[in-house]
Amino acid sequence: MSIAIYPGSFDPITYGHLDIIKRAAKVFDKVIVGILNNEAKHPVFTIEEKIEMIENVTADIPNVEVKAFGGLLIDFSEQMGADVIVRGIRAVSDFESELMMAQANKALNNRVETMFFVTSEIYSFVSSSAVREIAHFGGDISQFVPEFVKEKVEEKFSASK
Ligand code: PNS
Repeated sequence: MSIAIYPGSFDPITYGHLDIIKRAAKVFDKVIVGILNNEAKHPVFTIEEKIEMIENVTADIPNVEVKAFGGLLIDFSEQMGADVIVRGIRAVSDFESELMMAQANKALNNRVETMFFVTSEIYSFVSSSAVREIAHFGGDISQFVPEFVKEKVEEKFSASK
């Protein structure tokens, strides 16, 4: 059985992430969405909120699981028995850091491969940080995130005012 990990901060999950998850779920038998649990990054959403949002928007994809992890991605991949780490590339600017991360992970564990999915053009400008900034200033984020996530983001930003 081929198992892929799709790791990230998902603060919050966007349509760009969801597009990669759906495409990866067609290629691999199981896709584990791995949410990095790192309070040092001062995320807007708690790990429980991220799990709830990602489980909600992937509920119709049977071979997707959602899990949180701390520490090294490569250790989490090994624990999950994953063969592949999936990452999305939106633009050339993503490539440099992704290349370094893939090479570091390969140096740590030669068994696990990183595979890149090229982001669909319509989502090439979508990022969690843009979603947070637009929501912070009261802009409309409905093009960027599913409805369930939009409600959670709006709740969060209206509560912080
Ligand atoms: O959504 P992001 O913030 O681009 O995801 C980055 C993530 C979570 C994939 C990356 O920071 C990560 O794997 N962190 C875990 C720590 C680790 O393994 N670091 C070594 C990789 S060089």
